[in-house]
Amino acid sequence: MLLLVNTISDHFGSGITALVCSSDQFSDNRTDSTLAQTRVEADDFTMTKVLIAIAVSLVFVQGSCAFIWERKTRLTIAERFQTVPSEKETTRKIAKHFLGFDPKKILQNLREGGLPSLSFDAVFVIDTSKSISQDGHRNSLRALRLLIDKTNPETKFAAISYSNKATLRFNFTKKEEAIGKLNVTMIPFEGGDTNTQEAIDKCTKLILNPRSRARRGIAKRVLIITDGQSNIHKTKTLYRALQLKQAGAQVFVIAVGGYIKGINEIVSLASSTDGHLYRVRDTKGLLRIVKLIPPWSMMESFMKRTWLAGMLGKKPKAFAWKKHTRHHKRRM
Ligand SMILES: *[C@@H]1O[C@H](CO)[C@@H](O)[C@H](O)[C@H]1NC(C)=O
Ligand SMILES: *[C@@H]1O[C@H](CO)[C@@H](O)[C@H](O)[C@H]1NC(C)=O
Repeated sequence: MLLLVNTISDHFGSGITALVCSSDQFSDNRTDSTLAQTRVEADDFTMTKVLIAIAVSLVFVQGSCAFIWERKTRLTIAERFQTVPSEKETTRKIAKHFLGFDPKKILQNLREGGLPSLSFDAVFVIDTSKSISQDGHRNSLRALRLLIDKTNPETKFAAISYSNKATLRFNFTKKEEAIGKLNVTMIPFEGGDTNTQEAIDKCTKLILNPRSRARRGIAKRVLIITDGQSNIHKTKTLYRALQLKQAGAQVFVIAVGGYIKGINEIVSLASSTDGHLYRVRDTKGLLRIVKLIPPWSMMESFMKRTWLAGMLGKKPKAFAWKKHTRHHKRRM
């Protein structure tokens, strides 16, 4: 019951969860009930029923509003992602969800002890089809090298590139080695069609193959960089993506382009639309965004400072994004 209502509330806001909690409390209290309590509980029960009735009607009202809204603007959910958010917003989203660096959460977790390790196994899935262009491909590779530089030193990287066919370029390797391999000699621009399903299938096999040096029990994050819809066996693409997610990977997508043909498919590839889908106008925009992510040393020192403040019972300082990105810009 709780699960079901939670699912509903995920879609329609958080009000309903509170309701279920109160009715759960009601059944707990019942075990040691006196007569007076029973009467109070009976009132509670009526209240709960009334509240549920209100909540359910709200759900319907919201549902029908969404319907009207959709008809007016003629947008599907996926098409709303044609809009490219500010570079600052995307920078923080990538840091928070792909790298796992969430300063607010780190400050909160202080009270419960323990900092995130921020180490994971990453697979870059790089689209090298003709629409990306040679220069675009160079920029993508440079952006990935810079991104690697911002990860925890224990993170491992593998790469797959795809156009007419998908090719595994390297198995899971250390940071420095991966930076050395992300160049146009190792990962050439292919300039053909877009065989996304084969790339995703290769990725699933890579993750499940222990000889690929994928580490057990370590989070698997797949980052797909693409500018458009698949056009080879495209009916298989979303099924392959589902298999990849079932293999335990989180799928992140960087969708490149001002207007993206086939955005629906891209949106469905990602594990979620709020944390796993990033929009950039072009590969230069992607480069700028990656440069804005604070370097690993700064994220690490923030975590250490926060941890130390917690140990000493002091109030830790919030993470100063502005300061860190400005500093970093000078260095680049
Ligand atoms: C990756 O590892 C597998 C299994 O050991 C091996 O067969 C394959 O050749 C490797 N691929 C590359 C590109 O190194
Ligand atoms: C690309 O990487 C490979 C493997 O690290 C290296 O041998 C090669 O010299 C590099 N090429 C360029 C152009 O940097």
